[in-house]
Amino acid sequence: MKVLIVGSGGREHAIAWKVAQSPRVDKIYCAPGNAGIEEYAECVDIKAMEFERLAAFAKEKEIDLTVIGMDDPLVGGVVDVFEAQGLRVFGPRKNAAILEGSKAFSKDLMKKYHIPTAAYENFDDAEKALAYLETAKFPIVLKADGLALGKGVLICQTMEEAKAGVKEIMTDRKFGAAGSRMVIEEFMKGREVSVLTYVDGKTIKPMTSAQDHKRAGDGDTGLNTGGMGTFSPSPFYTEEIDAFCRKYIYQPTVDAMAAEGREFKGIIFFGLMLTEDGPKVLEYNARFGDPEAQVVLPRMKTDIIDVFEACIDGTLDQVDLQFEDNAAVCVVLASAGYPVSYEKGFLIKGLENFKDKDGYYVFHAGSAKGKDGIVTNGGRVLGVTAKGHDLKEARANAYEAINWIDFDNKYYRHDIGKAIDEA
Ligand code: AMP
Ligand code: GLY
Repeated sequence: MKVLIVGSGGREHAIAWKVAQSPRVDKIYCAPGNAGIEEYAECVDIKAMEFERLAAFAKEKEIDLTVIGMDDPLVGGVVDVFEAQGLRVFGPRKNAAILEGSKAFSKDLMKKYHIPTAAYENFDDAEKALAYLETAKFPIVLKADGLALGKGVLICQTMEEAKAGVKEIMTDRKFGAAGSRMVIEEFMKGREVSVLTYVDGKTIKPMTSAQDHKRAGDGDTGLNTGGMGTFSPSPFYTEEIDAFCRKYIYQPTVDAMAAEGREFKGIIFFGLMLTEDGPKVLEYNARFGDPEAQVVLPRMKTDIIDVFEACIDGTLDQVDLQFEDNAAVCVVLASAGYPVSYEKGFLIKGLENFKDKDGYYVFHAGSAKGKDGIVTNGGRVLGVTAKGHDLKEARANAYEAINWIDFDNKYYRHDIGKAIDEA
């Protein structure tokens, strides 16, 4: 069959790699893709938000299945456009992708269906938000309602910071239209875990767990980024916690969406905080995590095409979803200065070192073809993933493998997976 993948980051590279493993797949296209994805897919110059062009391309090439990797097109309704034209597509419709697209919606859903999450209030008026702060306990968390590239969350230690935060989000619209509404919520303490799940509208099957490192600097310092590295599984996500989450968080979320007439098919990514009072939802995403996909998919044994199709057809209960009994660590190689400002266009050396090395992967996030070879073309440039029998071995392997790659201004965190030592 022919598959089209929509997106251009490390996540889409990992999806393309996994799709390429399926014996059922003869040809992969990626729109717009990147220089690394080209190893598995023919990249086509159509942007992820050009829904009609994407659908026309899928028709012209007789694509059997389109997989949407990114949040923006999902929240914008790309799945509805494809379905209206009779095209098979993996991902939630617009009315379900709102689970990620509006934090106010997701908080109200959790409250209505008693799904554990931080206490909160929604605001569409800066004056009311400021008045509410007078009664708040600190630290407090401010969130722009809409999509903001993972940057619309402010953790404020003092009243002064919080007031400035409300102004940034709602008055100055630092995160654009995402800030026309906001959520103010209780600060939760604990360890974070990411659990990605496959959903077919009724049935939900969790993948193996992972943990991201969102801050730019060692020791969780510096600005929030898209993610500087991941490990999988999380040693803190025990069987007991998993059982709790399945019963009180995962299935209730799927049932709540169905009860609201917003049947969810695709990926639900649960951002969880393991608090003293049990696991609570930090956020929902309607797609694979980036760079969570880069550690979860290399460990997935089941044919991903079978799983995608079961989600679309509502037959996920018949799928035996399996993961390897090992571990993986991904270290992101970024351009110095990310996430603020950085230079691009430097030659990337050493990519060939990953060829035919079992258990080692280099997923491209921001790369492009230059005249002398592949060059840096983004803040996050590459995600280097390595597997191991356990987390410590995987981490040692990943930190060895990043030395195989060189480019000017190469920057990475030295402490990805440090938490493993505390397990
Ligand atoms: P989000 O985009 O909602 O995942 O928020 C980004 C990051 O902010 C999360 O990964 C957490 O590290 C942090 N965060 C968000 N909400 C809270 C909260 N209520 N309490 C503590 N930390 C939070
Ligand atoms: N790594 C976090 C995300 O994809 O949202």
